[in-house]
Amino acid sequence: MKYPESVTVKNIEAAFAGESMAYIKYMYFAKMCRAVGDEASAIAFESTATQEVQHAFGHLDLLYPKAEMTPVRCLEMAIEGETYEYTEMYPNFRHAAVEEGNHAAVAEMDEQIEESKEHAAYFQSILDKAAKRFAALARVEEKHANHYRAALAQITA
Ligand SMILES: [Fe+2]
Ligand SMILES: [Fe+2]
Repeated sequence: MKYPESVTVKNIEAAFAGESMAYIKYMYFAKMCRAVGDEASAIAFESTATQEVQHAFGHLDLLYPKAEMTPVRCLEMAIEGETYEYTEMYPNFRHAAVEEGNHAAVAEMDEQIEESKEHAAYFQSILDKAAKRFAALARVEEKHANHYRAALAQITA
């Protein structure tokens, strides 16, 4: 991202958060409506939720431009986010929940800490495998390059 201090970048980040939350919230509302037999409202929430995803993607196109993204970068960013969740965010939130005696929140945050840890480890294992794959590809490319170089040397000799 070229302008990390820009007001517009901050606004796009906030808009991305809002649209993402709208998606989850509408899916949650759809579940509630369906549970009491209101299928029409459930469908209205689900179809609108799908559009919120597209709105969120539009913001992400600006925040993480395709030209700057690679699978490795995506995995690194995901690991970063999950690691922040289980090392800083949830431990801090958990601490506050303990102080306020909110046992349900403490238990829920303990679960989230475990889940985030698992997600980070999972992405890390995928990244490690990807690194091996890229190394193997690089070796093949090198072989090809050497082959072309030898062929070129013969022509120019
Ligand atoms: Fe929207
Ligand atoms: Fe996660």
